[in-house]
Amino acid sequence: MVASHSSRWADVRTQFPGTAAGPYIDVAGRSLFFEGGRAALNAHLDTLTAGTVNKLALFETVEETRRLFASLIRCTPDEVAFTRNVTDGIAAFAAGIEWKEGDNVVLCEELEHPANVYPWFGLGRKFGLRVKTVAPEGGALSVERIVSAIDASTRVVTISSVSFAPGFRFPVAELGAECRRRGVLLVVDAAQSIGVVDTNVVAWQADAVAASTQKGLMSLYGLGFLYVRREVAEFLKPTYLSRFGVELDGHEAQVGDPISAAYGVGARRFDVGNYNFPAVITVAPALRLLLDLGPQEVQSYVFDLARKFTNRILDLGLPVFGGPPGAHSSHIVTVGADISDNNDVVGNLDMSSLYQHLVANGVRLSIRRNLLRFSFHIYNNESDIDVVTALMTEWVKRRAHGAAGTANR
Ligand SMILES: Cc1ncc(COP(=O)(O)O)c(C=O)c1O
Repeated sequence: MVASHSSRWADVRTQFPGTAAGPYIDVAGRSLFFEGGRAALNAHLDTLTAGTVNKLALFETVEETRRLFASLIRCTPDEVAFTRNVTDGIAAFAAGIEWKEGDNVVLCEELEHPANVYPWFGLGRKFGLRVKTVAPEGGALSVERIVSAIDASTRVVTISSVSFAPGFRFPVAELGAECRRRGVLLVVDAAQSIGVVDTNVVAWQADAVAASTQKGLMSLYGLGFLYVRREVAEFLKPTYLSRFGVELDGHEAQVGDPISAAYGVGARRFDVGNYNFPAVITVAPALRLLLDLGPQEVQSYVFDLARKFTNRILDLGLPVFGGPPGAHSSHIVTVGADISDNNDVVGNLDMSSLYQHLVANGVRLSIRRNLLRFSFHIYNNESDIDVVTALMTEWVKRRAHGAAGTANR
């Protein structure tokens, strides 16, 4: 049993050729590319090259991909739209709301990614809604703080299910229950959690969830998914009225009655023109892989790696932001004592020296908000942890002898 469990994950790893080049612990930046996606993409490029593209088959793949994504997050296919990225999904949903002057949206500017900040300010310029920002504490947001910011003019609350730094997991379902009770819409930026954290949008009580495909979904940039709860979607008016966002029988090039065209069912009204077919074709096998492995099994496997890694780093006496594993933990482990607004620079000279040591030895990771960010996915294994912690041990020893760069004085 144990052997078959581990051989299963070993087999997954072989499907990611990039694992051979040393520890890649950076799914929070983007995933290693998956052979299954590569093969599907190559086959598509072959048909483009040969002039044998079958458009109907492309649309079938679009619908199959919509179904796969719906299974992954436990909703119906009609609740899923295709977008370009997270920003696009959030902006499309938000622009579909009928705002009134003075309405507000509650979010944490300090912790949210720009993808979940700018769209709201953009709509503020157009429709007069206000952004009410909530301050985090120690890189975390509490449900209580957010709820206490909700007032009679709040229409939307938005958070990320896992922050890009420090990578803490947010208790979405707790907030979802509070929002639903108050009649406030909950929008979730799932960029960092999708494909890694087992996602049940019904349990979350989310009204909209935006994701993109280059991180946990192991595919290309330039494609996103937008979940919109069916009951909510029916009240939204998308900014664009488009061929694939309206109910229309017949050929795609046919113009129906634009004046009275009915919006597409549910989230489908947010689809626009032709799809990013290469990205759709690439993500389908990755979604199948995640569903075959089982979303809960994926989460347990990946979280377990992150937990082990956290404990090993703490044993070395290095600072893991947020301390020992707990309810806040996810697949993202950030190292460093201080979080800052500065995204890519490690201002802490000690951590900068550690980063350089790891990168010089082939480790692929990123820096966000003054923290070294390690993020695990299904292709990682304990040998990645062994390699990185051995390099950290070496660096700690060198530092003790004054040779690992300038200590943080
Ligand atoms: C929390 C979060 N949201 C959104 C994004 C990306 O947004 P977009 O897909 O619009 O580029 C990222 C990272 O790239 C992220 O970490």
